Amino acid sequence: MNLEQRADNHLSDWSTAFGRNAIFTLTLIALGVSLYFQDLALGLPFDAIPLADHIGYMLRVTARIAFFLLLLAMIARPFRQLTGIGSQLLRHRRYLGLAMAFVHTVHFGYVIAFLKTSSEPLEMVTIIFGGLAFLLTWIMAATSNNAAQRALGVWWRRIHTLGIYYVWLIFMNTFIGTQLAEGDFIYTGIVAAGLVAVSLRIAVFLRQRFSRTA
Ligand code: HEM
Repeated sequence: MNLEQRADNHLSDWSTAFGRNAIFTLTLIALGVSLYFQDLALGLPFDAIPLADHIGYMLRVTARIAFFLLLLAMIARPFRQLTGIGSQLLRHRRYLGLAMAFVHTVHFGYVIAFLKTSSEPLEMVTIIFGGLAFLLTWIMAATSNNAAQRALGVWWRRIHTLGIYYVWLIFMNTFIGTQLAEGDFIYTGIVAAGLVAVSLRIAVFLRQRFSRTA
């Protein structure tokens, strides 16, 4: 490897590390800012917020941040392939996924707090379908490294493709359910963003398929 290639690699390692740190820092800031301004969001003085309202608020915040990160990770490759731009997004896809898994784990923590403090019964269907989504998120996070990718071979892609679509589906199901129940405009936007992300992936998949058979 000559000096120029070594300098290029060094720059690329540095930019990847910078991007990774930026993603993790921004994720923590998003959570921190949401916590800090919950009084404004809930329209109550900070010390008068009931625990149940805090938990419900944080469940919504964590779900929305996690979904946003999931969508970014989902569109990274198709966006690059369709537009030719977005190489930085693609390079940092793994860290977007890890940040999503972290925020989703915070959602899990609030789910436990919700179950401990509310009298609402937990239905079996929620345990199975929601539990599987958490499990797949953690499996994807634990295998988001080069060693696991090499060891799992073709199974790595299968697990991650299944995991991404399954977790996406559970998110969409919950957002659509809330949209129908509450009719809040924000859910229309969230659901539309979810559909755009999957459409991009399908568009790239079909393009590759047809270019192979053409
Ligand atoms: C056993 C598992 C789970 C339980 C008991 C649970 C419980 C809850 C609760 C109580 C809320 C707050 C509802 C509200 O006050 O408006 C909520 C919100 C939400 N959860 Fe979970 N959750 C679980 C797993 C999951 C999983 C695995 C996902 C996604 C993959 C998810 C996505 C969402 C979404 C999208 C919202 C709505 C956010 C919003 O209204 O903006 N949840 N969850």
